[in-house]
Amino acid sequence: MSRLNSPMDLHGLTLSNRIAMAPLTRCRAGQGDVPQAISALYYAQRASAGLLITEATNVTPKSCAFEKAPGIYSEAQIAGWKVIADAVHKEGGHLFMQLWHCGRVGSEAILNGEPPLSPSGINDDLEKLLVYGLMANGRYAQIAATPSRAMTTADIEETIADYATGAANAIKAGCDGVEIHAANGYLIAQFLSARINQRTDKYGGSVQGRVQFLKEVIEAILAKVDKSKVGIRLSPFAGYNNATDAESEETFIAVAKLVQSYGLAYMHLGDTNAWAGSPDMPRMLKVVKPHYTGCLIGNGGIAPDQAQQMVDNGDLDMVAFGRMFISNPDLPARIQQGGPYAEARYVGWYGGSEEGYTDYPAL
Ligand SMILES: Cc1cc2nc3c(=O)[nH]c(=O)nc-3n(C[C@H](O)[C@H](O)[C@H](O)COP(=O)(O)O)c2cc1C
Repeated sequence: MSRLNSPMDLHGLTLSNRIAMAPLTRCRAGQGDVPQAISALYYAQRASAGLLITEATNVTPKSCAFEKAPGIYSEAQIAGWKVIADAVHKEGGHLFMQLWHCGRVGSEAILNGEPPLSPSGINDDLEKLLVYGLMANGRYAQIAATPSRAMTTADIEETIADYATGAANAIKAGCDGVEIHAANGYLIAQFLSARINQRTDKYGGSVQGRVQFLKEVIEAILAKVDKSKVGIRLSPFAGYNNATDAESEETFIAVAKLVQSYGLAYMHLGDTNAWAGSPDMPRMLKVVKPHYTGCLIGNGGIAPDQAQQMVDNGDLDMVAFGRMFISNPDLPARIQQGGPYAEARYVGWYGGSEEGYTDYPAL
């Protein structure tokens, strides 16, 4: 049997297998971006994953790329997440919350009329930023990103504090840990990008400067949450939201060294380009592995048999599945017996209620 279905220790948490559910934005929050009871059912249905990573969750109302994504900055949101964490724990699962700031990926239409925030106000590629609004008919549609404003030092300090508070709130809600979302072209990835980050202060310029914002976010979180409960998601070469740049490799070597030095719970590599048929996982592993020896989770277009091989040969410690978890709530059991696997229907990916969310049956 493959090691993929065997238990593992994640810094004191006993995970029942090495299968993670990838973070999946599903836009079911209610008034005040509070997660609802239906989401407790959705996550509990999937609790046989060794680790559930929540949908990206905003650390401040100044972040919004998808309307009705949940937040973790208000008491009501903490209470909503507590219901979810309790439901997952009741089923024997473990839950890390993905902490999100979308930065320039936003629109004043869904940011209370305020411009999105970004490292340098680079706005020449707004058509490549993926922002989604809720239409009057209940469907989601891509809406135009509006020009972002370069963050002041005070904005940066406030945002770093928001991450730390969000992390503490996630733990207060009963989550087992947090995942810093530094992937997919959102705020942290924007700071890491030499093209989008053109700051001339300590947060820009050299590789060291571009990594500084992430470094301060990690340190602020570690002041409130133990490192064994803090993971990070990276997508070094992802074209999503147009955050790539020619210096990615150099930057991500520095990031790998940084993550290693703090001894974080895990590093999660998201291969977003695999979606478009050009997987970057071998390239990512080549960049990261010489500098990082901790727990490594891989994700992105990885089929179950490939996942088994990658864990068995030591390329990865865990594999996260995204779309397969949408349609196969009992994915670990299905992998163990070699399928069958249900195809994810596009209906209900973003927004709506039960359809395409909690109505996929277990075997
Ligand atoms: C509906 C949907 C929502 C997603 N939301 C997030 C998210 O909130 N955070 C994130 O880091 N990635 C998100 N992703 C990317 C997935 O985590 C994952 O990287 C992607 O689906 C590729 O993995 P897969 O081939 O196993 O599906 C999302 C993907 C989908 C399909």
